[in-house]
Amino acid sequence: MQTVFPELTDDVIGRMKGASPRMHEVMTLLIRHAHAFVREAALTQDEWRAGIDFLTRTGQMCSDSRQEFILLSDILGVSMLVDAVAHQSADKGITESTVLGPFYAGPQRELDQGESILLREEDGEPLVMKGRVAGPDGKSIAGATVEVWQTATNQLYDVQDENQPHGHLRATFRTDEQGKYEFRTILPVSYPIPDDGPAGQLLRALGRHPFRPAHVHFMIGAPSYRQLVTHLFLAGDEYLESDAVFGVKPSLVVAPVRQDGVSTITYDFGLARVPQA
Ligand code: BEZ
Ligand code: FE
Repeated sequence: MQTVFPELTDDVIGRMKGASPRMHEVMTLLIRHAHAFVREAALTQDEWRAGIDFLTRTGQMCSDSRQEFILLSDILGVSMLVDAVAHQSADKGITESTVLGPFYAGPQRELDQGESILLREEDGEPLVMKGRVAGPDGKSIAGATVEVWQTATNQLYDVQDENQPHGHLRATFRTDEQGKYEFRTILPVSYPIPDDGPAGQLLRALGRHPFRPAHVHFMIGAPSYRQLVTHLFLAGDEYLESDAVFGVKPSLVVAPVRQDGVSTITYDFGLARVPQA
C-alpha cells in the first residue's frame, strides 16, 4: 500500500537537531509509530478530534488524589509492559513485579512482627501473611522494609473512603534476623478501579469490566537490593483471567491454608541486587 505523505514523517524527525541522543531515539520512534497509526487506521478528522477531547478530559480528571493518565496506561496494558521491559533480565529466585497502582500513600506507620494492619473491625475472614525475604543467593535479608496495603471489605482503600481511619489496612514491617516478616489482616476482596472518569468510559466502550482480582500490595526494599513492587493474588478469584490492569502473573497467585477459621498465606520474596556500576 502506498504511504500517505511520507516526507512529513521524515521532516518532523529531521528537525530534532537539539535533542539529546536518548530524546532523539525515543521521539523518533514515537513520531514514526504515531504517524503509522494515523495512516494505518486512516483516522478521520472527527476521530482525531474525539481522541484529543478524550485526552483533554483525562487531564482534567487529574488532581492530587487522582491520576487518570496512569489509570489509562494501566487499562491499556502500557504500565505492565513498561514494568516487563524494566525487569526482563530478572534472575531465577527473584519475585516477579507488577503495577504499583495509585493507592500507595507514601510512608506508612511501622508495626512490629505479627501485628494487625487493621485500625477498625472488618467483617472479613482473618488472614495471617508471613514468609521470608531473601536475595538471589537465597540468603535472608534482615531489616528489609515490607510495606503492605489493601482495600477494606467495602472494596475501597482508606484514601478513597473518608469513613475509614487514615492508615487502615496499610503498614510497614521490618524483617527479623532470619529475614522473616509476619502480619495479621483480613482476606482481600476483588474491587473495581475508579471508573467514573474517561478511563472508565473507555472500558465500557470496549465492553470491559473495571475489576481487579483480590490482592494485597507489597513494596519491599533493602540497601543494595532493587525495590520490589508486587502483589499477592488469591487463588480462585473470578477476575484472575481478566484483571482490568493486566497485573496478574501465575507466580503471584497464592492459595491460603485455612485452619480454625483463620487463613494463612506463606510466601517468600526474592529481591534482585542493584547492578554494580
Ligand atoms: C491497585 O491495585 O491498587 C490499582 C492498580 C492499577 C489501577 C488501579 C488500582
Ligand atoms: Fe490494589
